[in-house]
Amino acid sequence: MKLLGLLLFLFAIPVLFLNGCGSDGEGENELSEFELKHGVGPVDEPIEIIEINTELAAKGEQLFETRCTACHQLEVPITGPALANVANNREPAFIMNYILNPLEMRQRHPVAKELSQEYPGVMTDQGLDREQARAVVEFLTAYARD
Ligand code: HEC
Repeated sequence: MKLLGLLLFLFAIPVLFLNGCGSDGEGENELSEFELKHGVGPVDEPIEIIEINTELAAKGEQLFETRCTACHQLEVPITGPALANVANNREPAFIMNYILNPLEMRQRHPVAKELSQEYPGVMTDQGLDREQARAVVEFLTAYARD
């Protein structure tokens, strides 16, 4: 009985330690299934793109050129990852949340945390509104499907 108590005690220490010190502030709470798939941020419903709206994609391309290419190219990683295939790998809502809420994504989402280890630069909020972010996703989706 005593041994069991001791063992429990020993197990409890790292658990308490990790809970107490492992988190860097808020942020560390578990993500919901939705957030894991669609990202953390203002877009809290899945976005589905069935057919490309070419007008919207053209608007997104312009925004991409002016607001993203300082750090992203499509085919080669620079400060940030190459984005040619991002729409094949991530949900539209995930990409929108990344655009609209990059800092919290970095703090809380496992995919973004991993990217932030890989890329020393930091993606900052580019000040796009939701419709603009949606347009950029339309462009990235059109590009990825081509
Ligand atoms: C100041 C540099 C910078 C700018 C500007 C920037 N990004 Fe990023 N982006 C990064 C970095 C660095 C990462 C990876 C680490 C992180 O999140 O900070 C990243 C990650 C991403 C990811 C995640 C990729 C994946 O594989 O899931 C997406 C999507 C993305 N950026 C889209 C955009 C879009 C769209 C724009 C323009 C609206 C943009 N970024 C502007 C630096 C930038």
